[in-house]
Amino acid sequence: MQVVEVETRVTAGGVVQEVEVGLGSRSYSIVVGGGVLSELGRRLAALGLRGRAAVVTSERIGALYREPILESLRAAGFHPAAVEFPDGEEHKTLAWLAVLYDRLLEMGLDRRSLVVAVGGGVVTDLAGFAAATLLRGLPTALVPTTLVGQVDAAIGGKTGLNHVLGKNLIGAFHQPRLVLADVDVLRTLPRREFIAGMAETIKYGIIRDAALLREIEDGLSEVLELRRERLVRFVAACCCHKAAVVSDDEREESGARMVLNFGHTVGHALETLTDYRRFLHGEVVAIGMVAAARISHALGRCEAATVERIERLLKRVGLPTELPGGITRTALALAMQTDKKSVDGRIRFVCVEDIGRTSFVELTAQEIVNHL
Ligand SMILES: NC(=O)c1ccc[n+]([C@@H]2O[C@H](COP(=O)([O-])OP(=O)(O)OC[C@H]3O[C@@H](n4cnc5c(N)ncnc54)[C@H](O)[C@@H]3O)[C@@H](O)[C@H]2O)c1
Ligand SMILES: [Zn+2]
Repeated sequence: MQVVEVETRVTAGGVVQEVEVGLGSRSYSIVVGGGVLSELGRRLAALGLRGRAAVVTSERIGALYREPILESLRAAGFHPAAVEFPDGEEHKTLAWLAVLYDRLLEMGLDRRSLVVAVGGGVVTDLAGFAAATLLRGLPTALVPTTLVGQVDAAIGGKTGLNHVLGKNLIGAFHQPRLVLADVDVLRTLPRREFIAGMAETIKYGIIRDAALLREIEDGLSEVLELRRERLVRFVAACCCHKAAVVSDDEREESGARMVLNFGHTVGHALETLTDYRRFLHGEVVAIGMVAAARISHALGRCEAATVERIERLLKRVGLPTELPGGITRTALALAMQTDKKSVDGRIRFVCVEDIGRTSFVELTAQEIVNHL
């Protein structure tokens, strides 16, 4: 397991934590703090970047954060311009990628120009893919504005878009030069999105960090009230986990990244069956994590108390924990079989052994639903 370095600084604005993603020459920092948006330009200039900067965002996020971002870049000597596309997952497509390429080329970007993606996973995935491929790769900075973005989507270099045949089928690995996570922007995030993001943070606690899970349990009200100091430490702790897993297995080759799939086998199947409309991703992950814990218990891998603890915390957060009515086991098994992660009908299922500890087991989709 890689050791991830965290540097903590106390500034006038409060605590800022820097997490180093160790990937040799592609290493970069994730800066987590309150009010750090204004530091974007200065930090990028300090990395030796300069020239044109395309700020890619969605219309909704742009309306909130375009100006301070442009201002910070201008103040550091960049020549920035914003490119915005309509809000929503339905725009993470080849058609909108083509529009984005047009806009970026019209701006006269050259190979040293910078792409700054400002938004949730939809924006960072699409803008990241554009940056990975345009002119064979442009330096990228990510400014995640959702909890999912800050603890997951903006870390690890995965970029991509959806195809009519499935989600995230087109993509590339492209590590950013900097990730700047300002926890203050989470104040404008719709509440349901924040709560859904909590599922992925709880996942890190379950799979890797018993102390983090305990902290979430004990400090939940402060997190849910978006207390700055608490959020900075909490988001940075989650970033460390994603960074460590990514550093171990940058391109999903060794299988180490597979542990992040905890709760996602049942979760993805449920997402497919409900057409990606009924639930947010974190909500199906919450249901999937409880299902995974129950299966782990049924297989004798964890205590009943572990299942109860996971379920209790997710409920306190306000996340769903039960399969919705109308979803049959047969349908669920079928959806799991067709998942891209299933190989020859067998699924590498992530079990929880105890809080902070996991193991893998090969199961068929039928075996998984039989234990539910
Ligand atoms: N690349 C990866 O490793 C990775 C990991 C996880 C998820 N993803 C991808 O991320 C996407 C989901 O991302 P998401 O959960 O961040 O959702 P999202 O990008 O769809 O954003 C959710 C909603 O919140 C709005 N929003 C975002 N930030 C806001 C803010 N600060 N204030 C007000 N509104 C704001 C957005 O406009 C959108 O309507 C999916 O496409 C998924 O495939 C990628
Ligand atoms: Zn997920």
